[in-house]
Amino acid sequence: MSKLFAPATLGTPDGTGLELRNRTFLAPMCQYSITKRDGVPHAWQMTHLGARAAGGFALVYTEATAVTAQGRISDQDTGIWNDDQAEAWAPIVDFIHSQGAAAGIQLAHAGGKASTYAWLPGHTAAGQRGNLRPRDGGWETIGPSATDVLGLASPTAMTQEQIDASISDWAAAARRADAAGFDVVQIHAAHGYLIHQFLSPLTNTRTDAYGGSFENRTRYAREVITAVREAWPAHKPLAIRLSGDDWVQGGWSIADTARFALEAFGMGVGAFDLSSAGIGAYHGPSGPGFQVSLAAAVKAAVPGAFVTAVGLITEPAQAEQVLVTGAADGVSIGRAALKNPNWPAIAAAELGEPHENIPFPAQYWRANW
Ligand code: FNR
Repeated sequence: MSKLFAPATLGTPDGTGLELRNRTFLAPMCQYSITKRDGVPHAWQMTHLGARAAGGFALVYTEATAVTAQGRISDQDTGIWNDDQAEAWAPIVDFIHSQGAAAGIQLAHAGGKASTYAWLPGHTAAGQRGNLRPRDGGWETIGPSATDVLGLASPTAMTQEQIDASISDWAAAARRADAAGFDVVQIHAAHGYLIHQFLSPLTNTRTDAYGGSFENRTRYAREVITAVREAWPAHKPLAIRLSGDDWVQGGWSIADTARFALEAFGMGVGAFDLSSAGIGAYHGPSGPGFQVSLAAAVKAAVPGAFVTAVGLITEPAQAEQVLVTGAADGVSIGRAALKNPNWPAIAAAELGEPHENIPFPAQYWRANW
């Protein structure tokens, strides 16, 4: 049996753990498809996520799903800040379960990177990148500091009251995610969005308890984790997605990430997905497996955590190698899964898994996996 298709367990505070059929995760990917602009998921999310659950992924993550309307990247993002949204997620979760996959929701707040155009062809004509101003149908954004290092319009620096309110929003979203039946919450702390804006010295210039030292810059993230962990049942795993490195001198580094991940693990975060960057222009490496070293660093620093690698992992043998070398415990697949929803089933066949371990739906048995 391959490592990639060996069952896995995501740890939980109560010790029960969540069993997964293999180690392939669908990476969270915004779909910019909520044309009613109400954050309510619909047939597109059912089809997109459902097809990938049927295609064999062990854990299917939703796109970045906003904890408040203000925290959406664009007005076509999904949300879970109200009960209508939670109720619309429930049948999608049920279908994912019916296909043998676990359902994860990525909870997100875009902070100063909110209120942008939907990143779809035709929505981003030349000169339309960046924030959508309120006069053009956008909204005011908030962040740790009124800094423009993101290359976007500056957010308003959050007051203590706004910080407190936003912590409550994360917790309320986690409670609704539980009601909708999700198995895993992943906190989006990567890609230059709100939590990452607090973590990185490039975007956090506060002089109060939320800025300056490592301890202060990580305070907002710790408060989010504490609140979500309290709201999220102890038998369900809590995950986090981190940008392992800003790839910029003076930015958030992999050493910071490893230190923070160890703290987060101690606070009940069991699973870590290691992406990178998101603040300003990209200065990092590129090419196959370009972020695997970040996962390996966290795996070495946090024994007992379940760590996934992501980023241009496209080939089954390459994914298997990530696990065989001990760099990570699982892989998150993004664009390769857009091209091919059956990526896991085909990978299992290619890696020589026995027929009973190839995750395909019974309806497709004639495909002769
Ligand atoms: C993404 N990515 C992403 N990441 C995230 O944390 N939340 C999100 O909602 C999105 N949205 C999104 C949309 C689309 C269309 C793409 C292609 C990507 C990043 C994604 O999860 C992944 O980290 C990267 O795509 C790198 O992995 P791959 O695609 O090389 O496997």
